[in-house]
Amino acid sequence: MPIIYHENSRTFHLHNNKMSHIFKLIDGYPVTLYTGKAVHDQEEFDCLFETSARSMSVTFDEERPDYSFEHLKLEYPVYGTGDMRMPAVEAEAENGSRLLDLKYQSHEIIKGKPELPDLPAVYTEKDDEADTLLLHLKDEKTGLCITLLYTVMNEYPALIRSAKITNCGNETILLHTAMSLSLDLPDAGYDMIELTGAWARERSVVRTPLHEGIQSVYSLRGHSGNNFNPFIALCRKNCTENEGEVLGFSLVYSGNFLAETCVDTYNTVRVRMGIHPNTFEWNLTPGESFQTPEAVMVYSSAGFNDMSGTYHSLYRKRLARGYWRDRTRPILVNNWEGTYFDFDEEKLMSIVREAKELGIEMFVLDDGWFRNRNSDHTGLGDWITDENKFPFGLKHFFDSVRNEGLMAGLWIEPEMVSPGTDLFNEHPEWVIHEPKRPMHPGRNQYVLDFSNPEVVDCIFGKLDKVFSEVRPDYIKWDMNRSIGDLYSPTISHQGELTHRYILGVYRLYDKLIRKYPEILFESCSSGGARFDPGMLYYAPQCWTSDNTDAFARQKIQYGTSFVYPLSSMGSHVSAVPNHITGHITPLSTRANTAYFGTFGYELDLTKMTEKEKEEVKKQVVFMKENRQLIQFGSFFRLRSPFETDETVWMVVSEDRRKAIVGYYRETKGRNEKFRRVKLSGLNPDLIYHVSVLNRKLYGNVLMNAGLVLSDESSPECDKEKGDYISRLYILTAE
Ligand code: DGJ
Repeated sequence: MPIIYHENSRTFHLHNNKMSHIFKLIDGYPVTLYTGKAVHDQEEFDCLFETSARSMSVTFDEERPDYSFEHLKLEYPVYGTGDMRMPAVEAEAENGSRLLDLKYQSHEIIKGKPELPDLPAVYTEKDDEADTLLLHLKDEKTGLCITLLYTVMNEYPALIRSAKITNCGNETILLHTAMSLSLDLPDAGYDMIELTGAWARERSVVRTPLHEGIQSVYSLRGHSGNNFNPFIALCRKNCTENEGEVLGFSLVYSGNFLAETCVDTYNTVRVRMGIHPNTFEWNLTPGESFQTPEAVMVYSSAGFNDMSGTYHSLYRKRLARGYWRDRTRPILVNNWEGTYFDFDEEKLMSIVREAKELGIEMFVLDDGWFRNRNSDHTGLGDWITDENKFPFGLKHFFDSVRNEGLMAGLWIEPEMVSPGTDLFNEHPEWVIHEPKRPMHPGRNQYVLDFSNPEVVDCIFGKLDKVFSEVRPDYIKWDMNRSIGDLYSPTISHQGELTHRYILGVYRLYDKLIRKYPEILFESCSSGGARFDPGMLYYAPQCWTSDNTDAFARQKIQYGTSFVYPLSSMGSHVSAVPNHITGHITPLSTRANTAYFGTFGYELDLTKMTEKEKEEVKKQVVFMKENRQLIQFGSFFRLRSPFETDETVWMVVSEDRRKAIVGYYRETKGRNEKFRRVKLSGLNPDLIYHVSVLNRKLYGNVLMNAGLVLSDESSPECDKEKGDYISRLYILTAE
């Protein structure tokens, strides 16, 4: 049983064979005793209980002057009983009081994992995959009831947490903070890992020692954003890719978030993760409930690769859903960088015909297919085909693509409206803004009020019309600006807007997926500004970045891989000089980088030379042969582009009989130092043939002695001249 309750000691032990989380009820208060590597179960763990009230502390009660909430590790802390740290929940009663005293009422242990209404969430397919504890707490004075949900996955060292908050009293309660997770750890000897960035440089890996006070990553942009990802990890000082203890925290949510550590002056740390309390409030009338999104905590005692492996597998198999979850992804060509807005049916068809010759499987029609859309100044919201570009209609074009034997995909940006469109003129009140203040554009467009179900239904109707006509195989759902002017005339508590907006986005996804279950959705937000677990529930892949420069991309894909599987990373080969960096990298290096993802091309194929086309044909064949391994194998980071000018990573098939190592070097030096890299994930006892070297080596030789990278005597390495080189080593077991 992964969840054990010891009645006598009132102790809960949530565990599987890799991790344990233990807490105890002390006078009805859930107090954390341990979180970490799995330990044997025993009747009680009281020796792990620590408290002693210090000078100035507010104490428990008169009988126990040595107990203070300030010095207890708490499962879901509140303000009002002595804890002066940041609370998990803040609720305001009608008299303005924000004091709470949450005490245990009862609990249930159930098989499986309940769904979260209207929210994306990890799921189980069979009840024996997980057990869930529902811990019911109550504040007697206000009647605020909170159920803490803890799911232990049997196969994964993951503890999944959320809270359902219900007003069981007689008066209205205003929620100001409702965290998904709060975790107190008994020492602060950790570094914090975060994934930071901006447009065209998403998800760089940043490591900072924890220090006294608060460190956090967050979004207040209305979407998860590209500045910070809804993920942090706390790792021990000695933690590397392959060794050491690390705790990952990932929020299954696409809106404003907070991931925070607060180290007190007694060397303990509190982690909080959830919807950002700034800009958030939720009005609970008697009987109403609020469900937080869920946070997925992953434990590893074997370094970052192991933690990432858990997230990859869990998110690929039990967060992503539907028709495409387990299917290899079609190799596509997208016209955005090839044509931008300057195209017509004839021009696109010449790309399509070329794509067919090269073995490419899908054509994706990006931005610009609808009325008046010749620049990013107008058109969004009407979703009517541009007759100048498609004189015979969009269906005719889609049919023509299919007649060539390719699947056909389409770009949309449903959350937006451009000024001057019919939608904008008919419904100015549907634009998120405060009527008394000027509207603030972003990329010349405005955000529709998706907190209003009428707006979501209207957009669904418009898209449904297009979808039912052209039957797209794939949809790229873009979102190209953050939300700044938060105000909606249809809701009475403006603090509810950001969360209701995201619920509206999820609802539209849900409606479209229900009606068109076989469409492959790829989410996008000016590249990777909404690459989060919430989106993966609806769209199993996401456009990782607008930056397709091979060496910029290696960094972006490397950072993204801390949490997200290769099957979720949209990655394309684009033209050179690269449109963002101007770098001219070899076609082989661009493909060797893009293979580690969903793979496709983002250029005008008709402009390629015959020699390049021959190379593309081979790349397409290679990806078709290897995409099952790449998209569904185990991925390991071996050398970080954030630390050297080399990147090395590898992917190993499920049966460990085949592996591909990607090696990339930005600059070619002279008289260079020796270099080798230790591989991961192989079967130590199998002999692998290693391409490039053309040698046979045991798995344990490759993993312990390493692969020599500086042996450039092989004919393949001879060809490498200049900068931006790359090699793929293919390892095949005998
Ligand atoms: C931003 C996306 O990231 C691009 O790939 C492209 O779809 C443009 N939007 C289109 O406007």
